Amino acid sequence: MHKETDTMDKTHLTKFYKKTPTERIEALVAAGALTSTDLTGTDSLHLTDELADHMIENYLATYDLPLGSALNFLVDEKDYIVPMAIEEPSVIAAASAGAKVIALAGGFKTTISDRIMIGQVALKDVPDLPLAKSHLLQHKKAILKKANAAHPSIVARGGGATNLLIRIIEADDEAATPEFLVVHLHVSTLEAMGANIINTMLEGITAYLEELTGGKALMSILSNYATECLATAVCQIPVDLLKRNDYTGEEVRDRLIEASQFAYVDPYRAVTNNKGIMNGIDAVVLASGNDWRAISAGAHAYASRSGNYRSLSTWKKADNGDLIGQLTLPLPVGSVGGSISIHPAAQFSKRLLGYQTAKELEAVIVSVGLAQNFSALKALVTDGIQKGHMGLQARSLAISAGASGTAIEKVAEQLKLAKNMNLATAKALLQDILALEE
Ligand code: MEV
Repeated sequence: MHKETDTMDKTHLTKFYKKTPTERIEALVAAGALTSTDLTGTDSLHLTDELADHMIENYLATYDLPLGSALNFLVDEKDYIVPMAIEEPSVIAAASAGAKVIALAGGFKTTISDRIMIGQVALKDVPDLPLAKSHLLQHKKAILKKANAAHPSIVARGGGATNLLIRIIEADDEAATPEFLVVHLHVSTLEAMGANIINTMLEGITAYLEELTGGKALMSILSNYATECLATAVCQIPVDLLKRNDYTGEEVRDRLIEASQFAYVDPYRAVTNNKGIMNGIDAVVLASGNDWRAISAGAHAYASRSGNYRSLSTWKKADNGDLIGQLTLPLPVGSVGGSISIHPAAQFSKRLLGYQTAKELEAVIVSVGLAQNFSALKALVTDGIQKGHMGLQARSLAISAGASGTAIEKVAEQLKLAKNMNLATAKALLQDILALEE
């Protein structure tokens, strides 16, 4: 069930981080981000043993992750509360902080391409490549027809196979790899991520492709390199929103642009930059019930599309002096299918985010990636990342040392002031605190 209205009364969300989880749900209902049915609590969001046992083989137990909510997202003029499933302490705080500044600057503007997924049939031992290619092109219509006949329900809903591309991959003596003739099937999978639709269609055309080319099929499978399903988010931030401690807005802007240039030219930095982006993206993808491995694999391949691994994001100076950020990556997520429709936490995420279509989900996800990158870079080029991380790290250390209840905050507070913030110090502090309480 979706929330009834798109308007959100954000006054209920002030000091959100200070509330208990139950108070947060109440605040989200009061704000209009959830419906009153969610007031019954979050116990029902867990996977039951029965459901989990049906989802995978050899099921033993569920493995929990915290599910939190990032605030302040204004994407294409609409407010969102973003569900994120993640174990890393600082990610949600950083996403919310970045989104807050960007919302003050007018929010994210996104561009979402048509959602076309790609399937591959790899053929080997093709006796005459030019002839095979011309046969395939001559019979393109018939191949597409066969593909659609293999999955009529997606065609009935308005989707289906739309195009066929042929790629010849030359033999490489040095790598000792043979020649391949690769057929790409382009499919509009509508609201689904579409792996099953595509794989069914590919298997429906493979024998015909063998017949047309005289080759032998090696495999038929969806490609997770979804270059025909791209999402872009852009934001433009005036310098007066960028000031930070000893740095002027202009300095923060210029340093952030240099950080972006560094991540463009150096793969060692680019990987870390993109890992930060994927901190946010994967957390929303996971919360939404989508396949985060597919999104991650495609994103990193897209980062290498020039032949060098580069930053997925760019930060530049606008003519008027503002900072402009942009992030583009393949985002083949679905709004239906897979575990989206059966995992109760994914259903909750859908209610909380209130998205109606897979394109809308893409728009939010790519914006989260950009917010995450903005926050990380801003911290890195000013105060450094540790300052913000330490408070959260202190709580994790306190828990690792065995603290529970109110002792967690007490240990964490003292740890932040300690000379060495490590597990041994946390244990010693906990002992002192517990001794005082006895
Ligand atoms: C940590 O999980 C992510 C960062 O390293 C990202 C970055 O360096 O851009 C902070």
